[in-house]
Amino acid sequence: MENRVDALLVTDLINIRYLTGFTGSNAALLVYAWDSSEDRTVICTDGRYITQVGEQVPDLRAEINRASARRVLEIAGEWQTGRVGFESHIVTVDQHQGFQALKAGLDLVPIPGLVEQLRMVKDGYEVAQLRAACDAADAALATLIERGGLRPGRTERQVARELEWLMFEHGSEAVSFETIVATGVNSAVPHHRPTDAVLATGDFVKLDFGAVVGGYHSDMTRTYVLGRASEWQREIYELVRASQQAGREALAPGAATKAVDAASRKVIEAAGYGDLFVHGLGHGVGLQIHEAPGIAKTGTGTLLDGVAVTVEPGVYFPGRGGVRIEDTLVVRKGGPELLTRTSKDLTVVD
Ligand code: GLY
Ligand code: MN
Ligand code: MN
Repeated sequence: MENRVDALLVTDLINIRYLTGFTGSNAALLVYAWDSSEDRTVICTDGRYITQVGEQVPDLRAEINRASARRVLEIAGEWQTGRVGFESHIVTVDQHQGFQALKAGLDLVPIPGLVEQLRMVKDGYEVAQLRAACDAADAALATLIERGGLRPGRTERQVARELEWLMFEHGSEAVSFETIVATGVNSAVPHHRPTDAVLATGDFVKLDFGAVVGGYHSDMTRTYVLGRASEWQREIYELVRASQQAGREALAPGAATKAVDAASRKVIEAAGYGDLFVHGLGHGVGLQIHEAPGIAKTGTGTLLDGVAVTVEPGVYFPGRGGVRIEDTLVVRKGGPELLTRTSKDLTVVD
């Protein structure tokens, strides 16, 4: 019972958004464990967000104070709260020293990652947002290809900007992360940043990008071949595709995350390319592009019904080229729900 607390101080802004809907850039939230009446929950933000907090969180007591965490701890002290958990993976050493200097008569108890654990399982509203974000990304990519946006002579930067613009046109409110467009030898760099490198016939072109709807992120990678595919490119592409399919098929409630990684990785290892799959298989996705659970060799958890994840194996030949194929999915009892629906057949664009 060491971790038993009377209240939790939440200072991570994404966790505050998840619990309350508030999207401002400064906030602290005090949630009581044993008293569920709403007037015991306090949110504090600063003067920039007086209107916004009233609109987004009309049911909670709102305090306005720039030092938001400090203010809610003062209130906890006035209410003689006793043991207050705090997000020790978020709070800095300096902040912690400041909390202790308050002398509010509180026992501060480190509680790392509690809200992040809750966030792993998505409810119907959250899955609808993820679905909409994935739809926007699928539609943007389809439009890019239909209008000939992926063609020799263009630069990685031009393709990246057009793809991002198309995601906004298809309903995205932001980009999930810095769009990756990697052509030719650059496709061997897993997280290449777009440059003025020019797309050329015979290149692999790897696109990794995402849209955001209602704060929820999509994440998808597709790798195309420009003009004509060589034997080597076909072989590597089909290998990564088989590995990605094995990873998707291993997704199930109760599956160990490291077993999902292994199911996909062993396909690449069996072909002798295990050393060229240089990253984990996937990650949770939601209000953040990367969130719990990690799906990797070192993963410790198991999946649950409703967890949203990516499956994204890759094989990268330095100085030559690489392939990654990535989907966003929701783990379900009867088999995962695929949210990114762009075809994974080897596509030669010309
Ligand atoms: N580019 C981010 C990811 O795929 O994880
Ligand atoms: Mn990605
Ligand atoms: Mn990803």
